[in-house]
Amino acid sequence: MALQIVSVVAGEELSSGTPYESVNPARPSETVATVQLAGADDFAGACRAAAAAAQREWARVPAPVRGRVIASIGRLVEANTEALARLVTEEIGKPYAEALGEVREIVDTCDFFLGEGRRLYGQTVPSEMPDKSLFTFRVPVGVAAVVTAGNFPVAVPSWYLVPALLCGNAVVWKPAEYAAASAHALYRLFAAAGLPDGVLNIVFADGGQTYEGLDLALGEGTVQKVGFTGSSAVGRAVGELCGRHLQSPCLELGGKNPMVVMPDADLDLAAEGALFSGFGTAGQRCTSLGTVIVHEDVHDEFLRRFTVAVRDAKIGDPNGDVLYGPLLDHKFAERYEEYLGWIQPHHTVLPGPVGRMDGEGLYYHPVVVDGVRPGDRLFLEETFGPIVGVTTFSTLDEAIDLANRPGYGLSSSIYTSDPKAVFRFREGVSAGMVSVNNSTSGAEAHLPFGGNGKSGNGSRQSGMWVLDQFTRWQAMNWDYSGRLQKAQMDVAEITPDLGFRL
Ligand code: UN1
Repeated sequence: MALQIVSVVAGEELSSGTPYESVNPARPSETVATVQLAGADDFAGACRAAAAAAQREWARVPAPVRGRVIASIGRLVEANTEALARLVTEEIGKPYAEALGEVREIVDTCDFFLGEGRRLYGQTVPSEMPDKSLFTFRVPVGVAAVVTAGNFPVAVPSWYLVPALLCGNAVVWKPAEYAAASAHALYRLFAAAGLPDGVLNIVFADGGQTYEGLDLALGEGTVQKVGFTGSSAVGRAVGELCGRHLQSPCLELGGKNPMVVMPDADLDLAAEGALFSGFGTAGQRCTSLGTVIVHEDVHDEFLRRFTVAVRDAKIGDPNGDVLYGPLLDHKFAERYEEYLGWIQPHHTVLPGPVGRMDGEGLYYHPVVVDGVRPGDRLFLEETFGPIVGVTTFSTLDEAIDLANRPGYGLSSSIYTSDPKAVFRFREGVSAGMVSVNNSTSGAEAHLPFGGNGKSGNGSRQSGMWVLDQFTRWQAMNWDYSGRLQKAQMDVAEITPDLGFRL
C-alpha cells in the first residue's frame, strides 16, 4: 500500500495538488508514495508563513535551547535508523549498508551542531578609543528556502536544515519528488523533536513551480537565503535569480571529479578506490569519480586491475550485499542513456556490455571508457551514473591541467607515495576537496564540503564553515565615555622616534 504524502506548511497539510508517484527503482511498477505536488503560490505562501511569525519567535528561543532540539532530532533519527534507511533503499535503490551510512551522517551532523547552540561565538574587539567597546554577533539570516536532490535524500538535506534551524532561521524545504517518502519521514522526525509550527515547512513541487515560487518569494522579501543541491545548469539559474535580489545562495552542484594515479601509486589500492568512487551509489554522487588520469607507465596495469574489479563487482537488489543497485529514477536512467551516447569510436569500452540490464529494475552495467580525450563530452561533462573515463599523462603538471580542464571543482583524488606530489597536486587542483590515497567520494560530515567553478559559487556546507551561510555578522560599538568620540580622528597618538638607530 503506497504512502500518501502532502506538503506541510505552518503545521497544516496542503491536501490538494497534482498527483505524482514516487516509485521503487528496483521494481518500478511498485509505487512507494503518491505525492500531491504543490504550485508556485503554495511555495511562496510557505515562505510567507515562515517569515510572518515563526522565524522571529524561533530566533528568540535561546540558542542552547535550540541546540537541545537539535540533540532530540539526532536521538530520534538514531532510534529510527533502520526504518529510515529501509525507506531510502526502497525509494531510490541505494544499497542498504550505504543507506545506513547516510542516516548515520544525519546523526553526526546533529551531534556536531547540538553543542554549537552553546557557542555561536561572537567576539569582543578592542576599540581605538577609551570607554568604548566593540562586539560582533551572529544573527540568523531569516527564512531559508532549501531545494535538495534525491541521491542523498536525507543526509544532504540535514546539512542545510540542522545548521539553519540551530542558527535561528525558519526553513521551507523542497525535496526531490522522486525521494518524497524519505524526505517526508525525515520531516516527521524533525517535527517530533518539538519544532514549533512553521519553523520547518516541507513543500513538494516540481522544478518549474519551485523556481516560480522562489521568484515570487524573493520578490516579496520573504526568503533571505537559498540553499540548492543539484545540477550545475539549474544552479546557474538559481544563482542568477538570487543575484537579481542581491543574495548569494549556497550552491552545491555537479562535479567531474578527477583521480590522478601516479607511477609510484599502490595500484591495487587505486583500483579499489576507483571502483568505489566511480561505481558506488551507481556513480550518482556529486563526488563520484569522473575521469581516472593515470600515468602512462602504469596505465595498462592499472586498467587491468580496475576492470577486473569492475567485472567482479556485484550489482543488483539493493537489499543485498552489492556495490550498487538501480539508478535513482526513470528520469536519471533516461539521462544516463544519453551519456552513453557520448561514447565514440576512438574510445575503448570495458569490461563488457553497456546499457540497461535485463529485467524490470533500472539496473545498468558498469562502464569504463579508456582513451577519453580533453575535447570529448565524456571528459568535459558530468555523467551521473555508472561510467568512468580513463586518460593518461606524463608529468604531474599535465595531470593537474587535465584534472582542472572540465572547469568543475568539487572533489579530487591523488594516489601516490610521494609527499611532494601530494602537496603540488593540492596546490594546483581547483577542487574544494582533495583525497590522498582515498576515494573522491565519502567526505566526513564535519569538514567544509563544497566546490568551485561549475561545482558551486564557493559556498561551503558542514562543520563550523556552514555557519557563515546561515548567519550574518552584526558589528556593535558601545561608547560609554559620555561624549562623542570620532573614529580615526579622536584617537590618542604615541609619538615614536622613527629616526632611532642602534
Ligand atoms: C552528494 O552527492 O550530493 O562525500 C553529496 C560524499 C557524501 C556526500 C555526497 N558524503 O560522497
